[in-house]
Amino acid sequence: MKIKDSTVLVTGANRGLGFEFTQVLLEMGAKKVYAAARNPETIKLHGVIPIKLDITNQKDVENVSNELLDINMLINNAGIHKKTTLLDDDSIEIVKDVLNTNLIGISTMSKFIAPIIIKNGGGAIVNVLSAGCWLNGHGNLAYSISKAAALSLTNDMRLALNSKGVQVSAIHAGFIDTDMMASFQGKKLSPYSVAYDSLLAVNQGSQEILIDEMSKKSKLHSIDEIPNFSDSYCSE
Ligand SMILES: NC(=O)c1ccc[n+]([C@@H]2O[C@H](COP(=O)([O-])OP(=O)(O)OC[C@H]3O[C@@H](n4cnc5c(N)ncnc54)[C@H](OP(=O)(O)O)[C@@H]3O)[C@@H](O)[C@H]2O)c1
Repeated sequence: MKIKDSTVLVTGANRGLGFEFTQVLLEMGAKKVYAAARNPETIKLHGVIPIKLDITNQKDVENVSNELLDINMLINNAGIHKKTTLLDDDSIEIVKDVLNTNLIGISTMSKFIAPIIIKNGGGAIVNVLSAGCWLNGHGNLAYSISKAAALSLTNDMRLALNSKGVQVSAIHAGFIDTDMMASFQGKKLSPYSVAYDSLLAVNQGSQEILIDEMSKKSKLHSIDEIPNFSDSYCSE
């Protein structure tokens, strides 16, 4: 996957890591960047094309797949975190809600956009996952389940798409300094550097991108619980 001259769709591009992806894509010479958001008026970056897209709304996804026929790279960035533990009254509702975005949303996006990428001669789909794929922590039930399931989806996507010329890259990171982690007081990664390092690795053909020590150690199971975890670490 070569980012220079590519045409890329980024979900959740209005803020956080998604915003940084759009910025870095322009810096790396992407030809066209579709910046998708639930409310496209919140897209403020010059040089990108704002698109209305709620990844949990199949009509939105179908509209995008009918209109953006020149895509050769999709960044499945949009995601949510909602705090819950198993014994909370609403834990199952929260698990369903988070899975609906972090698993079903990216499955739907990939299903509808992959055929476009294949038709355009191949390219890449990038799934923004997490160290949480391998790591649990108090309050992180729904998020960890969703990211572990999305890891399995990613592995399956490689089986379905690699032979058709589509690189399927997964990005894993620990804490990134965005709204999602606003209440976490510990050390956080800069979202710009996560986006930059991720896209550099995608450009080099990497399919598993472990951004930081927390991701590397989580994968090796040398930590089994999120370090420095506090009850109030996330914004929702
Ligand atoms: N922050 C971290 O520590 C961290 C670590 C590892 C991985 N990640 C992952 O990185 C990705 C980006 O997270 P972030 O930290 O940038 O979070 P963020 O600051 O909370 O931003 C989340 C983005 O996702 C969008 N979004 C949520 N649900 C959506 C939906 N149904 N349809 C379309 N867009 C939707 C939001 O749009 P609105 O503005 O409309 O809400 C927003 O643009 C997520 O997949 C997250 O799980 C984050």
